[in-house]
Amino acid sequence: MNPVRTITRKRDGGEISAHEIGAFIGGYVSGEIPDYQMSALAMAIYLRGMSADETAALTDHMLASGATFDWTAGDLPKVDKHSTGGIGDKVSLPLAAMLACCDVQVPMISGRGLGSTGGTLDKLDSIPGFRTDLGMDEMREVIHRVGCVISGATPDLVPADRKLYALRDVTATVPSIPLITASIMSKKLAEGLDALVLDVKFGSGAFMKSVDAARMLAKSLVDTGQRMGVATTALLTDMNQPLGRMVGNAVEVNEAIAVLEGRGPDDLMEVTLALGVELLVSVEDDFSPTPARGEGQAAPLQGPARGEASSAIDSARQQLQKTISSGAARERFSQMVSAQGGDLDARRIVAPASEVISIRAGHVAEIDAERLGEAVIAMRGGRRQLGDPLDYSTGFEMLVRLGDQVDMGQPLARVFAPDDVAYAGREKLQASICLSDEPPQLGPLLLDRIY
Ligand code: URA
Repeated sequence: MNPVRTITRKRDGGEISAHEIGAFIGGYVSGEIPDYQMSALAMAIYLRGMSADETAALTDHMLASGATFDWTAGDLPKVDKHSTGGIGDKVSLPLAAMLACCDVQVPMISGRGLGSTGGTLDKLDSIPGFRTDLGMDEMREVIHRVGCVISGATPDLVPADRKLYALRDVTATVPSIPLITASIMSKKLAEGLDALVLDVKFGSGAFMKSVDAARMLAKSLVDTGQRMGVATTALLTDMNQPLGRMVGNAVEVNEAIAVLEGRGPDDLMEVTLALGVELLVSVEDDFSPTPARGEGQAAPLQGPARGEASSAIDSARQQLQKTISSGAARERFSQMVSAQGGDLDARRIVAPASEVISIRAGHVAEIDAERLGEAVIAMRGGRRQLGDPLDYSTGFEMLVRLGDQVDMGQPLARVFAPDDVAYAGREKLQASICLSDEPPQLGPLLLDRIY
């Protein structure tokens, strides 16, 4: 196949066939197709988009480029969640443990920080001894023993994505819905899941800033997952301010543990429960005869579209809440940490704290969450470049939320940082919070459900 001709045909309006996509991905992974031709295809996809069929074929062939988990029939259902990334988003940590207490198993393959958004693996790395580089057999073993595992992609899982993502990064082709869809879904589908929920974020700290862009991405992800036979739904959630109070690495693990101990902040708890409910209801639906779901449709989180299933939703929610009130999820998290070599009782160092105070009175009208993510990077809690070492001890505790009324001199946040970076962190934090005379209009935390 001549890849340039394929791109020309696409420009003429024809679709690339699944066979051509397979040949392209196979040739790229084996080295037969050079980077410059793959860059041309990535740019063509970036500029022209892909049909749903093409996106599914790309996902399928990327998935087939490596190994996948193949679980024994009759095992407990496998479920997972994926977030498109945000500031302070530590949901994966409590949610994996909560779900593992609800007769499902969670083989979660996670990533490191990407740009200003934090990464689950980086947060877990702040736990002394915790290993995020388990092999597939080790992951299987932890799943069978504990019911949940959170680790990084092994070299044999979706090699096409590793190679293509690095190329997209240097060719400015990352923000393309079909390419993002194939990248995320190939990795998640390699886990051999029965159900997947996507937390697609919109707002100042999200990859997709607008609701419309987030909705388009959510529909593409859900449609692709459903075509591949996995019960897939998505929630559109607000990322116009950090989720929870803590932003960083060790401080976010501490807040995740607070959730497991029933002391978590309301917004974090709400998103965690909503995502967990999606998965438990999906698994229930999958194992009982219910009408087929629409493809990539949107529906209110509460209301007629969910009305008939409200008892299943209530019961899933109660089941998840009980994992916390009984202490079972806290215990399960400790077991997972131990099984992955970590010591949850060992001290997680948090850098010295200082406060940032408000220089005027007013209402908190805007929080530039992306800037906060950049502030964490400035304090070495995130990476400027792949491979940069991290200081897990740095971060923020937000003391105000959007809409709060503050007085002059009132603390807005605590900054955890060693002396050499504390000033930069405080400055960026101050600049990221905008106060107004009038109270702002606030939108819902959970905006929509795509199913
Ligand atoms: N996250 C991924 O895993 N892939 C993308 O392309 C973008 C975000």
